[in-house]
Amino acid sequence: ADVAAGEQVFNANCAACHAGGQNVIMPEKTLEKEALEQYLAGGRNEKAVINQVTNGKNAMPAFGGRLGDDEIANVAAYVISSSEAGWE
Ligand code: HEM
Repeated sequence: ADVAAGEQVFNANCAACHAGGQNVIMPEKTLEKEALEQYLAGGRNEKAVINQVTNGKNAMPAFGGRLGDDEIANVAAYVISSSEAGWE
């Protein structure tokens, strides 16, 4: 997966709710390392992010019909990479 391409997908589709790895709707469910480990179904890994982005969850919309599989894989790689880096 292409992390740099994933950053572009993130800025265009996710940052409205998740700027800086935060969550404006459910503040505890951030994209930080510890929150992903605690809350993300399937654990903190790219496949789990792909599943949630594809299918959505509660107030988070599903992107399966709006983004391609490659775009979803790239944004998942960006989320995991950024969680490791602490979202700078
Ligand atoms: C949760 C990624 C777009 C709202 C999450 C989580 C991830 C994620 C990985 C799990 C975080 C955790 O449990 O700690 C993404 C990505 C997006 C995206 C990669 C773009 C492709 C959005 C948008 C919104 C949104 C646009 C708001 C309209 C939420 C909400 C949750 C969440 C409300 C908590 C869901 C729950 O557990 O009830 N997101 N998100 N997300 N996201 Fe997104």
